[in-house]
Amino acid sequence: MSEERGRPAAVLRAAIVALAALALAALPAAAAPGDAAETALAKALFTQGAVPPCALCHTLKDAGSAGAVGPVLDELQPDAARVVAALKNGIGAMPSYKATLTDAQMQALGRYVARATGAAR
Ligand code: HEC
Repeated sequence: MSEERGRPAAVLRAAIVALAALALAALPAAAAPGDAAETALAKALFTQGAVPPCALCHTLKDAGSAGAVGPVLDELQPDAARVVAALKNGIGAMPSYKATLTDAQMQALGRYVARATGAAR
């Protein structure tokens, strides 16, 4: 059954989510803003760690995602503050992540998206 096949993937996904959450909860001790470690953690949140993952709804070339529910981030090129505002408050059909992501995680995602789209360097 498809349920049987889906279980290992779900377990793996849960483990990745937990690891990403743990790693980013340790910010800024684990990673300085904008460094390679932070970028890797933010990308992991983008593709699978956030619930629901940003990649589900957004296209972002750097993250290899092709979601088509929300705007194409490569075209929108939001700065970090705009990303964080969307994460905190939600916008339109996009849910707020205030209850599931820490401030440090939202800031890291903001910096990552801004850099990945060329809005910031
Ligand atoms: C369920 C689908 C969905 C998910 C998951 C999602 N978004 Fe969105 N997002 C949208 C939609 C739809 C919009 C457009 C909302 C509007 O303008 O009405 C949007 C808008 C945005 C914007 C633009 C905000 C603005 O000011 O115009 C940013 C930046 C963004 N999302 C980033 C993210 C990030 C980062 C994540 C993951 C933490 C994420 N989104 C997860 C659907 C989603």
